[in-house]
Amino acid sequence: MTDSTDHLLDPLLDRLRAAVGDAHVLTDPADVAAFVVDWTGVHEGQALAVVRPGSTAEVADVVAACHATRTPVVPQGGNTGLVGGGVPDASGTQVVLSLGRMRRVRDVDPVAGTITVDAGVVLADVQAAAAHAGRLFPMSLGSEGSCTIGGNLATNAGGTAVLRYGMTRELALGLEVVLPDGRVWDGLRGLRKDNTGYDLTQLFVGSEGTLGVITGAVLRLFPETPRHATAWVAVPSVAAAVALLGIAQQHAGAHLATFEIANRQALDLVLAHLPGASDPLVAPSDWYVLVELAGAATDRGLDDALEAILGEAVEADLASDAAVAGSPAQRDALWALREGISEAQKVEGATLKHDVTLPIASLAAWAEAMGPVLECVLPGVRPVTYGHVGDGNLHYNVSAPVGGDDDLRAAAPALSAAIYDSVAAADGSISAEHGLGRTKAAAGAAYKSDVEVDLMRALKRALDPHGLMNPGVLLPE
Ligand code: FAD
Ligand code: MLT
Ligand code: ZN
Repeated sequence: MTDSTDHLLDPLLDRLRAAVGDAHVLTDPADVAAFVVDWTGVHEGQALAVVRPGSTAEVADVVAACHATRTPVVPQGGNTGLVGGGVPDASGTQVVLSLGRMRRVRDVDPVAGTITVDAGVVLADVQAAAAHAGRLFPMSLGSEGSCTIGGNLATNAGGTAVLRYGMTRELALGLEVVLPDGRVWDGLRGLRKDNTGYDLTQLFVGSEGTLGVITGAVLRLFPETPRHATAWVAVPSVAAAVALLGIAQQHAGAHLATFEIANRQALDLVLAHLPGASDPLVAPSDWYVLVELAGAATDRGLDDALEAILGEAVEADLASDAAVAGSPAQRDALWALREGISEAQKVEGATLKHDVTLPIASLAAWAEAMGPVLECVLPGVRPVTYGHVGDGNLHYNVSAPVGGDDDLRAAAPALSAAIYDSVAAADGSISAEHGLGRTKAAAGAAYKSDVEVDLMRALKRALDPHGLMNPGVLLPE
């Protein structure tokens, strides 16, 4: 930023400093650096300033100041988003509003089954606060040590517990939100039943910072599930994994907590790049499933249920082998194979992420057909396919041909178009859980009907008539 720009911006910066204190308005490029590039490294922008308020009142002051000067605001939590929605564009005119200082657990009520938190509380800390009160906050993501509950709500995050507990929106009972003009909506009553009009909480869930800044939330808690039965299962195909899901549902019912898939390519990357990772099975397989049953201390039949599932699967040629966790350490090791895939693929090199969902019945045929299509677009391309198969959600994340990072970048539009076209043809969605952000804002609109896009734009205009909240994210400008 030049001195002359600084001079022009002084009134806004002064007001921001008055709102949150000098130390929490960052403009030095070294201080700002970590806030302007996303986890994937694909999106790197520039910020007019990074502002770090410590309370809802301070967020309201910051947003009101930005509203008065018509300055765009980019809300940011843990900056683990995978679609570039939490970082500014290249203009240098946007204020990044980081919730990182708002980390207070406001209340835990085990009997009501609720926890009330500031938006900047890290997901793992929400889980820990619930556990401290003898309850479970079930949401679980590979990024849970850094992502914030505000970011989870803003993206309607998924993860590995959706099969049993649902997406983030199903865990949200109420929100506190600073609106684009700086007013505060307090919707933190946390009632299970409240049929008094439009559901404003759900309007903000999944809005990716485009309608307001979430500053607090009331979330649902559940009984703890200290018992687990976990297996890493070799399966011949996606079709076999889907058939195994049916068997697992039949035997385990509501105890089925996790059902994740990974192809051999994904496992190979984890084995290559994650220190300490080892293949728990002797013979290689094209596909693997991580299956976990979870229950209360009184649920003693989980191991038997898992054994019955695996026995039936082997008999029906749906599984060739399985490693069953015999201790908490072995369970952690199996989970690390699944949770390490994103990180390992990032270390490997250029990656093109596709977070797609399809009707489960179409999943296997879709995944099978896609490989040859991509091979025609870019020979040698490596589909690293994994994810939440129990939810119909595959991370169809394509790695570059060996040594061909630039080729992948050049072919990216054609590869993504091929994938999105076939997802749309199969009545699927191009974003199952990561949101649209900057990466997919245009594609999101292109694959929706005009009526859907009109409705979304009408909501945006009604809440944010000046277009100040996260412009360019979710909806193309
Ligand atoms: P950020 O990245 O900071 O922001 C994400 C979006 O939310 C942006 O648009 C931002 O403007 C908006 N936002 C953030 N905070 C607020 C707020 N308080 N008010 C309004 N808007 C806000 N995601 C899944 O769904 N499932 C997974 O399994 C999963 N696994 C992951 C594994 C790894 C290794 C990584 C790096 C990411 C993974 N993610 C996953 C993606 C990411 O962690 C989630 O999208 C998460 O919800 C983002 O939270 P955050 O606090 O980091 O948000
Ligand atoms: C995961 O489930 O591990 C992530 O959502 C996938 C990703 O990083 O693309
Ligand atoms: Zn995921």
